[in-house]
Amino acid sequence: ANSFDEECDYLFKAVLIGDSAVGKSNLLSRFARDEFSLDSKPTIGVEFAYRNIRVGDKIIKAQIWDTAGQERFRAITSSYYRGALGALLVYDITRKSTFESVRKWLRELREYASPEMVVVLVGNKSDLGQSREVNLEDGHSLAQLENLSFMETSAKENMNVEEAFLRMITRIY
Ligand code: GTP
Ligand code: MG
Repeated sequence: ANSFDEECDYLFKAVLIGDSAVGKSNLLSRFARDEFSLDSKPTIGVEFAYRNIRVGDKIIKAQIWDTAGQERFRAITSSYYRGALGALLVYDITRKSTFESVRKWLRELREYASPEMVVVLVGNKSDLGQSREVNLEDGHSLAQLENLSFMETSAKENMNVEEAFLRMITRIY
């Protein structure tokens, strides 16, 4: 169930947010095309990908928006969030500063996104355990405090990527 032309029962928009270089674009390319790149460039503006997902007997077309983590490359924020039903809020487990930014991203969600939006907190780069600066427990605690789902992922090793997107999608439907 992966072709673009396949008929779908639902179409929905989701967004990726988080600091620069946490791996948003690689999570999306892994999910949408099963691709990963070690030397990917920072995103400028906004990019999209689609993927069809079967949930029960329904086909859901997910339209996923990916924007720049770097402020100076970001597209106009209100249009980015408009109509989005879900978000993956991504940090990098090897950089504590990206975890500390999660509160800033949550403030932005409160300002621009629908209050019903389903948010999954994602600690990416779990393959780099030796450089870890954010404990699994800290991710769990923050998620619990903010009432979010939580997973650690590796876009590189394809660990939990599908699961993180599906967690978001199945909580919407
Ligand atoms: P911006 O577009 O600037 O916001 O960055 P981004 O969040 O889209 O990050 P991107 O996907 O471009 O990845 C940044 C760097 O991290 C690249 O060198 C990727 O190869 C690397 N990277 C992404 N995911 C992983 C992962 O799971 N493990 C490892 N080891 N590296 C990763
Ligand atoms: Mg990017």
